[in-house]
Amino acid sequence: MQLTLTRPDDWHVHLRDGDVLARALPHTAARFRRAVVMPNLRPPVATAEALRAYRARILAALPPGADFEPLMTLYLTDRTTPDEVAAAAAAGAFAAKLYPAGATTHSDAGVTDLRRLDPVLEALAEHGLALLVHGEVTDPDVDVFDREAVFVERELAPLVERHPRLRVVLEHVTTAEGVAFVREAPPRVAATVTAHHLLMNRNALFAGGLRPHHYCLPVLKRERHRRALLEAVAEGHPRFLLGTDSAPHPARAKESACGCAGIYTAHAALELYAEAFEEAGALDRLEAFAAFHGPDFHGLPRNTGTVTLVREPWTVPEAYGEGPERVVPLRAGATVRWRLAGGSGM
Ligand code: DOR
Ligand code: ZN
Repeated sequence: MQLTLTRPDDWHVHLRDGDVLARALPHTAARFRRAVVMPNLRPPVATAEALRAYRARILAALPPGADFEPLMTLYLTDRTTPDEVAAAAAAGAFAAKLYPAGATTHSDAGVTDLRRLDPVLEALAEHGLALLVHGEVTDPDVDVFDREAVFVERELAPLVERHPRLRVVLEHVTTAEGVAFVREAPPRVAATVTAHHLLMNRNALFAGGLRPHHYCLPVLKRERHRRALLEAVAEGHPRFLLGTDSAPHPARAKESACGCAGIYTAHAALELYAEAFEEAGALDRLEAFAAFHGPDFHGLPRNTGTVTLVREPWTVPEAYGEGPERVVPLRAGATVRWRLAGGSGM
């Protein structure tokens, strides 16, 4: 069996920098025509100037002949000004990313008080930039499995109301509450959904022992939440978008007494979504999810050209690279049921 789809886009990916960028980018560019690149580098991509420079490094790292467009994001901090937003827009930024300070990997420079950000959010709306939100509270009194649901109610719903012209994306939605919020929200609100949250529930963190390569943020949730995500994408709801949140880390940082969050999926991104849609009996919805919902929501043209997936299992390498800096991908040493067979118009 094979599936030919319009070339898709990834609406949330971590490409990093330097050697990791060089290794991750070909995986993403082989599958996606565009990708929204997260700005949580060290230091973060928090100025128009840094954004321009990072885009140039990404373009320089592209394999020869690749037809790939990075969509750049500005990292919001307590010090971001409306002028910086205007400068980022002039530099061709696509969106801004809101990390509540301390919520996840490299978010310490993030925002401590959302209410103080209102002038910046107004500037985003004015310049037509989307707001991409890591939707978790950082309150240590809130159980880590509840942080998304609490954020949606406490922070996100009021924010969407306060800014009636702003396009808002709840990134990597993981809960039934997050899904319900998007379903009920106005059409300018969407969510990205990762392949790993569609394929795994929180049991995967402890299958046969502690599994650091299944640790990400927001953390994997109960089966009923996974079901809610699968249902939303399987019914073809147009405001659930493909966003891998592929997040490479060196094995030494994952296999550690205090391992960091992030799952690398770019090596098999589309193939893993195909598995999830197949499980849901919704392979016929995969193309719209992967290639139409995103551009339609963001007001961008749909891609031309195609990619083809074949239902032919292959074994994922144990790692990409060598030594402590190697990146261990999802399904390392195990099989993925779909294989990328190539494409046209790429
Ligand atoms: O698992 C995650 N990894 N979640 C995030 O929010 C950040 C990401 C990363 O940058 O590693
Ligand atoms: Zn992310």
